[in-house]
Amino acid sequence: MQQFNVLELLSQDIVHTEVEIKGWVRTFRANRFIALNDGSTLKNIQCVVDFENFDESLLKRITTGAAIQVAGNLVESQGKGQSVEIQVTSLKILGDCDADTYPIQPKKHSFEFLRENAHLRTRTNTFSAVMRLRSALSFAIHKYFNEHGFYYMHAPIITGSDAEGAGEMFKVTSLNHNNIPKTNDGKVDYTQDFFGKETNLTVSGQLEAETYAMSLGKVYTFGPTFRAENSNTSRHLAEFWMIEPEVAFMDLAGNMDLAEDFLKYVIKYILENNAEDLEFLDKRLQDEDKTKPQAERNDMSLIEKLKFVTDNNFKRVSYTEAIDILRNSKPNKKKKFNYLIDEWGADLQSEHERFLVEKHFKCPVILFDYPANIKAFYMRLNDDGKTVRAMDILFPGIGEIVGGAQREERLEVLKQKMAAINIPEEELWWYLDLRKYGTAVHSGFGLGFERLVMFATGMSNIRDVIPYPRTPHNAEF
Ligand code: 4AD
Ligand code: MG
Repeated sequence: MQQFNVLELLSQDIVHTEVEIKGWVRTFRANRFIALNDGSTLKNIQCVVDFENFDESLLKRITTGAAIQVAGNLVESQGKGQSVEIQVTSLKILGDCDADTYPIQPKKHSFEFLRENAHLRTRTNTFSAVMRLRSALSFAIHKYFNEHGFYYMHAPIITGSDAEGAGEMFKVTSLNHNNIPKTNDGKVDYTQDFFGKETNLTVSGQLEAETYAMSLGKVYTFGPTFRAENSNTSRHLAEFWMIEPEVAFMDLAGNMDLAEDFLKYVIKYILENNAEDLEFLDKRLQDEDKTKPQAERNDMSLIEKLKFVTDNNFKRVSYTEAIDILRNSKPNKKKKFNYLIDEWGADLQSEHERFLVEKHFKCPVILFDYPANIKAFYMRLNDDGKTVRAMDILFPGIGEIVGGAQREERLEVLKQKMAAINIPEEELWWYLDLRKYGTAVHSGFGLGFERLVMFATGMSNIRDVIPYPRTPHNAEF
């Protein structure tokens, strides 16, 4: 007896073979047709039971959600909708499923409901497709870097520094909340904490990645990062995964080339390898579109959007040019917000980003050379003394998907920038060492993995592209 998964059963030429398969029942129709799914593909394998040959008590236990094992002959299907089916000769219930209380019924559930049942939601087509694509994208990311001479670096999760200097960190402590040791001046005595100093969950592996780029040349991190920003939006998580390449001797233009080539590669990878899941999600979105007024419908299908990214150059625009475009654009009265930005130096709001990407350029945009005061301390100051070599990549429907920069490689300039925002040199002495011992131009960026998965799957809430989302007041699972 040969063991297969459903994907193999459907894609290999093995009809008239005795096969055995295990999975979860999706439906059981007419006491005869079991639709069995095992997660290997969206498709179910139809298992045909001759009810006269089986005990009624056994057949009663074939309920939606039950785990079963069937064996039988794989034959060409008589019915519509599937090419092959299994004529069941033996059937075993591996795990019963109480049909009355099982949350995942064979019907449409709202995403809100499924979020409350995140432990079971991958038993639906939409979530199994999304999570298979998440897995494929993560493989494609490692494949890209591996093929391009990068080393995978594991940045620490617990750190003693704030890589973004934005103060949005989760503290890590072993101190007992009810008995916190204090110093004479009433402050928390961190010398008595586990690490003997204040520590937090990392907001970014960039600074550590820089140290490795300055020895191994080309490195990337791909790991969880944490931000205690209290933003309850459809694009922010408190725990998200970030991909951060860092390359020695590469300037900002090289950084843009790398980011664009990399994003195109990973999207192309899923177009070539995950067509079934993409087509399913594409159809889901088209069906959803039909329920909306014409003006709110998408002008491209999901797959068209992905192909658009792989086939077209990203538009590269400086912050200053972008501000000019926004200044000269008409305010959108109907939507009650104003595209106008009056002052050079202001940070772009998400509606400005969306205007540039979706209305003005209608393609992915790389914005670069931002004002120094709205960007992180480590970015390379330009000769104008007021802009830095930063770049953000904006994607249609997503907004910022990548943030990166050429790094400040000059010791004195970096020290001044740190002093200006009160980062003590002692905290980042090792980071400053890189500028003392063999400094060089280097650059890198961070891609928010969940934002990429949102774009690739067309899901509109970031909570639906990560297995167990962490958001304010939500850490149920
Ligand atoms: O722009 P950010 O903050 O950049 C950095 O962290 C740099 N250290 C990266 C680098 O140069 N190595 O974050 C990078 C990306 C954003 O563009 C966004 O896609 C994502 O990370 N991101 C988030 N994704 C989900 N939830 C959040 N709260 C996020 N914050 C940032
Ligand atoms: Mg950013």
